[in-house]
Amino acid sequence: MISKYIKLIFFLIPLALLLQDCQHGKVKVGFLLDDFSSERWYRDRDLFIEKTEELGGKILVDSAMGDIKKQFEQAKAMLEKGVDVLVVVPANSEAAAAIVKLSHRYEVPVISYDRLIKNCDLDYYVSFENTRVGELMSDYLSKRCPVGNYAVICGPDSDNNSRMLKLGQTQFIQPFIEKGDIKLVFEECVNEWSSEEGYRLMKKCLAANEKIDAVLCGNDALAQGAIEALKEKDLAGQVLVSGQDAETVAIQNIMAGYQTMTVYKPIEAIAITAANLAIKVGKGEPITEAIHTTNNGQKMVQSILLEAMVVNRDNINMTVIAEGYLKEHNLKQ
Ligand code: GAL
Repeated sequence: MISKYIKLIFFLIPLALLLQDCQHGKVKVGFLLDDFSSERWYRDRDLFIEKTEELGGKILVDSAMGDIKKQFEQAKAMLEKGVDVLVVVPANSEAAAAIVKLSHRYEVPVISYDRLIKNCDLDYYVSFENTRVGELMSDYLSKRCPVGNYAVICGPDSDNNSRMLKLGQTQFIQPFIEKGDIKLVFEECVNEWSSEEGYRLMKKCLAANEKIDAVLCGNDALAQGAIEALKEKDLAGQVLVSGQDAETVAIQNIMAGYQTMTVYKPIEAIAITAANLAIKVGKGEPITEAIHTTNNGQKMVQSILLEAMVVNRDNINMTVIAEGYLKEHNLKQ
């Protein structure tokens, strides 16, 4: 008799929880990340989860670790579990179009997070002014070195942000190039966002060029690799190096004088903005905050584009530390 009651309780509890979710209209949000090659993604994940739950949403999270097929399968699994909205950091900007197609078959809208999903009927895009990020790097380095030999170490072509960064970096220095002041002597893309790749390309660049004055790196991991290669030639600290993300290693490199600057994209801002948007989209509420549009090759995608900031030796205290970033990484001010 008692075991009968226990069985009944085991049956009723999940049913009650399910009904509670439905009654309270809990929005089910699927968050698909790529990999954790940059430490920022841990913060993106944690803050996004925290905010979504705070807003009363139910969250499912997965990461593809750079595997395009895996990301598609993860999307499929989440759609089968009944998510109301998908938020995706694409492992590949082009291939993720298949995820959007599939989601729309389930009538589930997709929000592209940080990286744009190209050539599809994408619903929303939440990111930063990524071309501007590249411009900020070139602006900063060209003020310190208006005449000289420049190298560009770009992110992988599979990430639309790499292309936007490169566009910003190169279009900013174009007038200097036309004047003959800056020479772009090296420009190559890595295969993945890693310090090993930054190191490989910096070595290649140094082998092919006698003198390099400045290196525009797509992010801090690439900058770290480039600095390692420069160290081997006793050039670290003499060649200007840019980066992106304000990673712990970049802050240390900036303090040591090896890296000139980095661009910080406030992670809290993007995570909270995307979580808010996801809940609203999931509830089918009107969206008024997506005031920008971004061409993804097929359509003008309604976007929220946030602002990035330059971090250098002089303003570290006011920028990343003020953001609570270093505290989270247990770094001393
Ligand atoms: C880019 C992103 C950068 C950096 C990089 C490597 O898409 O915009 O902030 O983190 O990926 O993960």
